[in-house]
Amino acid sequence: MSGHKWLYNENVKDHFMNPRNILDKIEEYKPDGEGLTGNVQCGDEMLFVIKVTDGIITDAKWKTFGCASAIASTSKLSEMVIGMKIEDAYKISPQEVVKALGGLPDKKIHCSVLGDKALRAAIDDYYKKNNMADKIQEKKAMVICNCMNVTDHDIEDAVLEGVRDYDKLQEMTKLGTVCGGCKDEAITVMNEYIKKYFE
Ligand code: FES
Repeated sequence: MSGHKWLYNENVKDHFMNPRNILDKIEEYKPDGEGLTGNVQCGDEMLFVIKVTDGIITDAKWKTFGCASAIASTSKLSEMVIGMKIEDAYKISPQEVVKALGGLPDKKIHCSVLGDKALRAAIDDYYKKNNMADKIQEKKAMVICNCMNVTDHDIEDAVLEGVRDYDKLQEMTKLGTVCGGCKDEAITVMNEYIKKYFE
């Protein structure tokens, strides 16, 4: 072995080396809901599929072109949601998955969001197919910087990518570069996301 120290704890390593609930062939699986999502910055892609009976997720599988953190966190997530009420699975946050794994390096938190997004997309798909579209909770983006059309979702992505101060946020999103009137709100939103994901 080289002298490098692994950033990951034993639990994360276990889920990465022995991922649970990997999807083989979707044609044979016949899911009740399926969600596909990607992280443009990483080029990652995640497919999450579920089977549902009487409002309970009876099975979950997934497949990804993602990194070790995406694999480990989605493996854990798939274990967590099997047997869970669909409404409760809908509310699982990436932080709960990271906690259940015993933590991930900060720089890798954004990868764990991938499985969570794909699960929510699979549940939305299930709701749509079963006349329950009213249960879908779409997170509408809120424009923070009107001049550059930067939203709270863009700020969230920047925080997950490692941004921790206004200068870096501005560099990444270009918000605040015209009239500057959005600075205070942008800082407030950025700090809320830092608190949400990292504190
Ligand atoms: S509102 Fe952000 S620069 Fe003008």
